[in-house]
Amino acid sequence: MHFPGAHILSVNQFERADVEHLFDVADSMVPYAHRERMTKVLDGAILGNMFFEPSTRTRLSFGCAFNLLGGEVRETTDIKTSSISKGESLYDTARVISGYNDIIVMRHPQAGSVAEFARASRVPVINAGDGPNEHPSQALLDLYTIRKELSSHGQGIEGMHIAMVGDLKHGRTVHSLSQLIQLYPNITFTLISPTELRMPGEIVEELRNNGHTVIETEDMEQGLVGNDTVYLTRIQEERFSTKMEADVYRGRFRLNEAIYTRYCQPSTVIMHPLPRDSREDANELDNDLNQHPNLAIFRQTDNGVLVRMALFALTLDVWQQIERTSREVNWYTERRF
Ligand code: CP
Repeated sequence: MHFPGAHILSVNQFERADVEHLFDVADSMVPYAHRERMTKVLDGAILGNMFFEPSTRTRLSFGCAFNLLGGEVRETTDIKTSSISKGESLYDTARVISGYNDIIVMRHPQAGSVAEFARASRVPVINAGDGPNEHPSQALLDLYTIRKELSSHGQGIEGMHIAMVGDLKHGRTVHSLSQLIQLYPNITFTLISPTELRMPGEIVEELRNNGHTVIETEDMEQGLVGNDTVYLTRIQEERFSTKMEADVYRGRFRLNEAIYTRYCQPSTVIMHPLPRDSREDANELDNDLNQHPNLAIFRQTDNGVLVRMALFALTLDVWQQIERTSREVNWYTERRF
């Protein structure tokens, strides 16, 4: 993959070598994300951060990543405040906004919308989630996290066992992550979901055709056994026609310390793209695991900044200029990572 100027729309764009190059660049961003050093390598550059669906970590971490590289961020956070609400097309919106920015990050509720926008854009576009379809930067940060967590136990991604739990039908993070992990050989996927919310058949077929093992089950406890990583997801209420339809599934699969201890391996990494639904009737990932050393959910969110910095540095082709533009910061920076 040729990164400079590329749109980042799908994990299917990536070869394993691209992923590993991106991860190396992400590793080099640690001193900047940890505020030990600073760079102005993107001084003068402008990011258009356009979110037409709610977001906390994707929007803020893309913005933070751009700021950490020295660039400025302009945001649209609601369709109601955009002229899309007056009937303006994605084509016209893209032609206009790409004249104001050097790169655009976009989240939109419709599958395929970000790709449609990118076709009309004059600058690179990064897909920050297009409806139930894909969330490629989340998959990259998830895989980066898996690699780091497993390597701390002396393991690699090749041959790993991963359980994905919850709404696998509408969850774009699991669609992207499963397709990205399969760049590594001999993966065992245990897909735990209600029958109605199973992983789309075409993704399961692709994983099997590429030589991976896929087990589909509704039995969470047995499905948890023998995995290196368990990746939980929220019931994607916003993708159902009514809240009542989603309520049927809420709270059906919950991981807490007792279940973890009984069914998971002592080293199983616990992940979730967040937000987790912490309402009492859902509580899909219990707070009683908050202090567990294998709970990686906040390391995932921290890693999101590194991976998104790497995406900007590669697509804007400044990754080799960062070190020579860097200096120590001059403010108090002690943090507990
Ligand atoms: N994981 C994720 O996409 O979170 P946000 O919806 O808060 O951006």
